[in-house]
Amino acid sequence: MPEMGLEGKVAIVTGAGSRAPGIGNGRAAAILLAREGCKVALLDATKELGDATKEMIDAEGGTSMVVVANVAEQASCEAAVKTIFDSWGRVDVLVNNVGIGGPMGNAVDTDADAWDAAWRINVTSMMLMAKYAIPEMRKAGGGAIVNIASIDGLRGGNPNLFYTASKGAVVQMTRAMASHHGPEGIRVNCIAPGYVYTPMVFAQGMEAELRERRRKNNLLQTEGTGWDIGKGVVYLTSDQARWVSGIILSIDAGSMAGTVGNTTPIKAFD
Ligand SMILES: NC(=O)c1ccc[n+]([C@@H]2O[C@H](COP(=O)([O-])OP(=O)(O)OC[C@H]3O[C@@H](n4cnc5c(N)ncnc54)[C@H](O)[C@@H]3O)[C@@H](O)[C@H]2O)c1
Repeated sequence: MPEMGLEGKVAIVTGAGSRAPGIGNGRAAAILLAREGCKVALLDATKELGDATKEMIDAEGGTSMVVVANVAEQASCEAAVKTIFDSWGRVDVLVNNVGIGGPMGNAVDTDADAWDAAWRINVTSMMLMAKYAIPEMRKAGGGAIVNIASIDGLRGGNPNLFYTASKGAVVQMTRAMASHHGPEGIRVNCIAPGYVYTPMVFAQGMEAELRERRRKNNLLQTEGTGWDIGKGVVYLTSDQARWVSGIILSIDAGSMAGTVGNTTPIKAFD
């Protein structure tokens, strides 16, 4: 059984801050990768949010640095990867975590300009970060990329067309990137989180009733957190997943498997 193999590796986590106090998916992934011995580049558009994650990693004796960058801008992604490579001499892991809710509404209601701008943040950003990280992974002899999508990228049902479409694009981008870069030892996987309770969803206020409805909306009837997603990132980036590429790992307490079943048997057709 392979060890984790993350000790001494260099990992980039985009959106490694959290938009409000608490543990988001990116922050959890960064902290857990640091616990495995990675040097973690905490890439965030807002320095203070990255700093807060760094303080948490510092407190545990881990190694990290904050890199301020906007993943929607090509030059910013290029400069960020260069800074990280110049500082630590390699890049092994990329976690493309940044994602926003984006414009609301169905096709009729959605603002087309807001759609274009948000697409750069949710989708184009992951291509841009990979564009600059992959050449460094090649130098290291391989690497691992994890793209964060959503269960909304695997099914309909979200009232906002943008979020569903952009996360669906992340799912397909993962499969395509896995096939392009597998032969050079770069594994590309995707996590599709269910409705976890993170600052992304509670920062703008979430009523207790909605929180409870989200909790009950999965098969385990249990609330998920950023740590659940972070654990998946650690697995997929570690050597324990050395034979895993191109998968879409739903971490969702069974939401994608189905709805909570009616336990009363009904008479079947004869
Ligand atoms: N919370 C959920 O229920 C849920 C469900 C499914 C998927 N997701 C996905 O998880 C990811 C978000 O996870 P999180 O909890 O870390 O989010 P978060 O909203 O707390 O954001 C993390 C960080 O991203 C940074 N950021 C935003 N735009 C940026 C940009 N353009 N460039 C650089 N940094 C930027 C923010 O400053 C913030 O610190 C998203 O991709 C989201 O779609 C979340």
